[in-house]
Amino acid sequence: MSEAVPTMRRILLIVGGGIAAYKSLELVRLLKKAGHETRAILTGAGAEFVTPLSLAALTGHPVRQGLFHPDDETTMGHIELSRWADLVVVAPATAGLIAKAANGMADDLASTTLLATDKRVLLAPAMNVRMWLHPAVQANVERLKGFDGLHGVAVVGPDDGEMACGEYGPGRMAEPAAILEAIEGLLAGAAGRPLTGRRAVVTAGPTFEPIDPVRGLTNRSSGKQGYAIAAALAELGAEVTLVTGPTALSIPTGVTGVAVEAAVQMQAAVRDALPADIAVLSAAVADWRVDGVASGKIKKGPGGPPTLALIENPDILAGVAAPGPMRPKLVIGFAAETSDLEANARAKLSRKGCDWIVGNDVSDDVFGSDGNTVMLVTRDGAETWPRQSKTAIARRLATRIAEHLAD
Ligand code: CTP
Repeated sequence: MSEAVPTMRRILLIVGGGIAAYKSLELVRLLKKAGHETRAILTGAGAEFVTPLSLAALTGHPVRQGLFHPDDETTMGHIELSRWADLVVVAPATAGLIAKAANGMADDLASTTLLATDKRVLLAPAMNVRMWLHPAVQANVERLKGFDGLHGVAVVGPDDGEMACGEYGPGRMAEPAAILEAIEGLLAGAAGRPLTGRRAVVTAGPTFEPIDPVRGLTNRSSGKQGYAIAAALAELGAEVTLVTGPTALSIPTGVTGVAVEAAVQMQAAVRDALPADIAVLSAAVADWRVDGVASGKIKKGPGGPPTLALIENPDILAGVAAPGPMRPKLVIGFAAETSDLEANARAKLSRKGCDWIVGNDVSDDVFGSDGNTVMLVTRDGAETWPRQSKTAIARRLATRIAEHLAD
């Protein structure tokens, strides 16, 4: 199994002064696991909370602290550093840093970099609740958000909660996983809408196979991963049809939803959605349906419980992946496995004739949860993605799809 680095990006992390600075170390770790490279700037106040050594060890690069350090400026000048990045992240973003950025002040490395960068900036504010709610801070944040184009900053958090100072309310820095998700979202957006003009069909959720008019066979798929994939493809500009079994979710913005119940209906709806460039079939399709669905409710009776005769459902994925004029350029299936993920996923890939398999490790609690651990298996190799939210996985998959179709 190879640990490939998918869509690696460069993040410039500015660590401001605040108790939340320790969480930035976790953010660096998550960024690295997600395959991104990080360089850090540590403000004077930030250095009161975390050491340059910890940040250097985690990022694998020297940490920049001052504006006028000759060694730093000869290796990578501060302007170059601000250009090197694909995205600048300020975490924690203190009231002071926010005020400087909102007013164009440049009196240290962090504030100068924020003015000099030609990339988007993401702020993860962290401060006392009174400070956060102060109209001066709110006005600065609104001002920064409202700047045109690239200059408009994005903001993640702050969260509500108990603060280090004992007060309660908004002001806690967003959790590192939420910051990572915001970063991935901005990176995807920065790539533009590379799937514009492409059509995609996505299946999601369980199927419901009727026994009689009131009963049926189904499974515990929540549909979250498939819905997130449909949303991520639409974010990148694709025209998406989401064929979904019964779920509690609402159809994402910009996506056309087709609600179905049984596998045979799902198959027909998928066929109707073709031709498409991309098919991502993530639905947990029931392997069997009841042969001879009763037209009326089956009653209890002296004869004991009924015997259900099952027949096999059509394999929707294998059908879509079969060679022919309607075959999408990229057909992606899912494999839920509790062991031998790569071997089983690879076997499924050839058996079903699809191009990629997203192997899902379901040995931990994946059903209905927001997080997921997956392996992407293609004909050329396999790569494991770190455990991350289903939204982050969806965005990464959508980006990979866009890159593949652009080749
Ligand atoms: N699939 C499908 N139609 C079916 C069954 C499965 O389209 N009738 C698709 C699923 O949407 C998924 C992949 O095929 O993309 C899963 O294949 P499946 O053979 O069902 O494998 P697992 O669910 O992983 O389970 P098992 O290997 O135990 O059968």
